[in-house]
Amino acid sequence: MPRHLMNPLDFTVEETEELLDLAADIEKNPDKYSEVCRGRRLATLFYEPSTRTRLSFEAAMMNLGGKVLGFSSAASSSASKGESVSDTVRVVGCYADIIAMRHPKEGAPYVASLHSKVPVINAGDGGHQHPTQTLADLYTIRTLNGNIRDLTIGLCGDLKFGRTVHSLIEALVRYPGIRFVLISPQELRIPDYIRNDVLEKNNVPYKEMEKIEDAMPDLDILYMTRIQKERFFNEEEYLRMKGYYILTEDMMRLAREHMMVLHPLPRVNEISVDVDQDPRAMYFQQVQNAVYVREALILTLLEIM
Ligand code: CP
Repeated sequence: MPRHLMNPLDFTVEETEELLDLAADIEKNPDKYSEVCRGRRLATLFYEPSTRTRLSFEAAMMNLGGKVLGFSSAASSSASKGESVSDTVRVVGCYADIIAMRHPKEGAPYVASLHSKVPVINAGDGGHQHPTQTLADLYTIRTLNGNIRDLTIGLCGDLKFGRTVHSLIEALVRYPGIRFVLISPQELRIPDYIRNDVLEKNNVPYKEMEKIEDAMPDLDILYMTRIQKERFFNEEEYLRMKGYYILTEDMMRLAREHMMVLHPLPRVNEISVDVDQDPRAMYFQQVQNAVYVREALILTLLEIM
């Protein structure tokens, strides 16, 4: 049976650390890995738009000497004719050695994994999980901080629909000394299953607040997120929430000298472009790091390393 990645918890902390170690070695010694996937193929099955995740998976496989194939929208695949994800992965498993799938329906990559003879990676399923973004986030935190422990982490924005936040919390509660400040409007608070089954159950300290300025002085990390327009049922409600948080250089003056600003991107307007010049802005570094961790993940799931 192939090994899949649906949720960050599919890897133990030890396995996650090994994967991050491998990513660090790839970053340091890219030539060592430039042929290791020769003859292997990655399929990217994206039923929902993406820039970073799809292209970084493709870049990762190319960096490893492999090849890529796939589609970037449901409309350009036979999903538009009514084909199920379970049939699609059976078919794509005849063409590729590993599959990265993004889907607007929560659990769709999991259903695909049940029917696949090759590893399936959840590249984002609805408002549920985004485990490979979490690997990039963990790698960035570990690289910049030296370790992942004893950190106060502010998560700001759309905590209800933001799948990157859900995956990151699930992964981080396994590390020592992690505290969360959950900053959101009332309407976009963290889902109950994360609050009760993840934070409360693991006795992880957390506070919920609405104003970013109130949280700022205590934070080691500020993880900004976009208001997830595509998950709203009502355009009017989205327009009301859009612009609720805009991180500015003035607000950055309230932050600690070493605080890092992360964002999974895409950014709409929740971080002012002025903040990009701030040495604490690390979101483009996250993008680069995502390539190394996706290379490491491909090698791990293909059991090449
Ligand atoms: N971070 C992220 O998932 O970006 P994309 O939607 O562009 O893949």
